[in-house]
Amino acid sequence: MMLRAVIAAALASAVILPATIATAGPIEDRQAIMKGNGRDTKLGGDMLKGATPFDAATAQKILANYAAAAKAFPAHFPAGSNKGETEAAPAIWSMPVDWKAATDKFQKDTTAAVAMKPATLADFGKAFGMVTANCKSCHESFRIKKG
Ligand code: HEC
Repeated sequence: MMLRAVIAAALASAVILPATIATAGPIEDRQAIMKGNGRDTKLGGDMLKGATPFDAATAQKILANYAAAAKAFPAHFPAGSNKGETEAAPAIWSMPVDWKAATDKFQKDTTAAVAMKPATLADFGKAFGMVTANCKSCHESFRIKKG
């Protein structure tokens, strides 16, 4: 009986797991990446404002997260994912060259920021500023803020 219960539980969780993954589509995936960017930007901003003390390891982690986000982000815009609960602008699909330039720049700047390995708050400010300029410029061209 015990074994049966264990097997039944294992089967049940095996069924539940893929179902949860299946509900997360490209829109949710790319928004999750951006939510991470939002969290990291808040964290970095707090350090630069002096609200939290500068910590080189945390600063480097923030920059590494940005680089990972920049790398992963462009893969989540398949055809058809322009519809639904999304703030992605139609320009992403209608101006693919400009979109690629924006995502390439984000990757280039975040990679450069990681390589800077800032050891002081001032240097972190430079790396952070270089990365976050991308947030603004890309959102202006490719994000339609709703609500
Ligand atoms: C190459 C373009 C691009 C860059 C660079 C970019 N974003 Fe975005 N961002 C988008 C797009 C497109 C969306 C809308 C995604 C959607 O709704 O499908 C978005 C959405 C967001 C959201 C809302 C996520 C949600 O749905 O809750 C936040 C927060 C965000 N971005 C923060 C940032 C920050 C912070 C940076 C810089 C570190 C950044 N973004 C850089 C394109 C970009």
